[in-house]
Amino acid sequence: MKVLVTGGCGYIGAHTIVDLINHGFDVVSVDSNIRSTTQLLDGIEKITGKRIHNYKVDLCNLEDTHAVFHENRDIVGVIHFAALKTVPESVAEPLLYFHNNLTSLVNILKCIQEFKIPNFVFSSSCSVYGNTTDLPVVESTPLGEAQSPYARTKQMGEQIIQDYSRVNDTQSILLRYFNPVGAHPSALIGELPLGKPDNLVPMITQTAIGKRPTMIVFGHDYDTRDGSCIRDYIHVMDIANAHTRALQYLLDKKNSSNHEIFNLGTGNGVTVLEAIKAFEKISGVKLNYELGPRRPGDVIAIYANNSLAKEKLGWEPKIGIEDMMRTAWQWEVSLRDKVLSN
Ligand code: NAD
Ligand code: WQD
Repeated sequence: MKVLVTGGCGYIGAHTIVDLINHGFDVVSVDSNIRSTTQLLDGIEKITGKRIHNYKVDLCNLEDTHAVFHENRDIVGVIHFAALKTVPESVAEPLLYFHNNLTSLVNILKCIQEFKIPNFVFSSSCSVYGNTTDLPVVESTPLGEAQSPYARTKQMGEQIIQDYSRVNDTQSILLRYFNPVGAHPSALIGELPLGKPDNLVPMITQTAIGKRPTMIVFGHDYDTRDGSCIRDYIHVMDIANAHTRALQYLLDKKNSSNHEIFNLGTGNGVTVLEAIKAFEKISGVKLNYELGPRRPGDVIAIYANNSLAKEKLGWEPKIGIEDMMRTAWQWEVSLRDKVLSN
């Protein structure tokens, strides 16, 4: 069975392709490489023995997107990862984010409608919950004010799919990821942040390897057990597997409506300082960090209630914080070794 993955050259898309292949699916990818290269496709080939075909197409271009669907009429579903995802960039360039993330979604839905593709899985984000204090968050927790244009594109994306689903037969699943981290255990694929990372784990590994002299812990006076913020870090392979399960669930017609939403988190809140301690423990590297001021827009704490995904999808996150850090570190080391050997 063939699946079309958008954003297949990116971080979560590439890990999901590996999981899909391991579960017997064929995959084609569409990625304009606006935020990636084809490097991760090489890694996928080394892990699985399969070379994924990527259509280098901007999904904001309807004609080009249509041509991909025309050539792949036999797909059983679309998993739509492609989007821009950098929060501060979205604050600086909101129109870029609204245009890219929403036009691409509308174009994908137009093609899904025209070619009668039965199943659709969408990458949403815990950022749709905004600044909630109602913890842990369940899927029915009311959505708060979006804290950035990026988060707003996810709220609007969810609404677009909901409105579409009212009048179309497509079966959709919206997956709200918490904080995806780590890399495939082979260290052949992982996260490739462009420029200075905003996210905690690449910042930790890049500082530890010496790409950055030091890093700041944003806030140490929050009302949490050690004063730093709490997040629900989840291994990217656990996230990847939830996509395979979501698709299989739709193919097996186990869904109770044509529009379902699932949180993808471990359910465990981890502080920034606990994440750093876990990293230091598994790497043996003493991290050079400073306690600094709060980062504007950060929520104090957020973590998931993941019961629905466990119950309905039969999904279970398996990888703990130390292995999240271990695989992220192995990936960072492999990137350095690759540079040194060239
Ligand atoms: P990524 O940047 O690594 O991958 C996204 C890919 O989409 C990139 O390869 C990029 O080139 C491609 N792309 C973007 N716009 C495109 C367009 N118009 N046409 C074709 N290709 C396009 O990001 P990721 O971390 O793999 O995230 C995947 C999805 O998950 C995104 O929708 C993101 O918003 C969502 N998400 C990510 C996180 C996270 O922390 N990584 C958390 C929650 C949700
Ligand atoms: C985690 C914690 C920081 C860097 C973002 C998006 C969200 C989702 C996931 C896509 C926070 C602290 C970080 C650093 C630090 N993405 N930190 N020093 O902000 O929870 O979520 O990524 O949908 O939408 O907003 O993730 O990794 O940036 O931060 O102390 O150098 O690490 O303050 O407490 P965040 P993050």
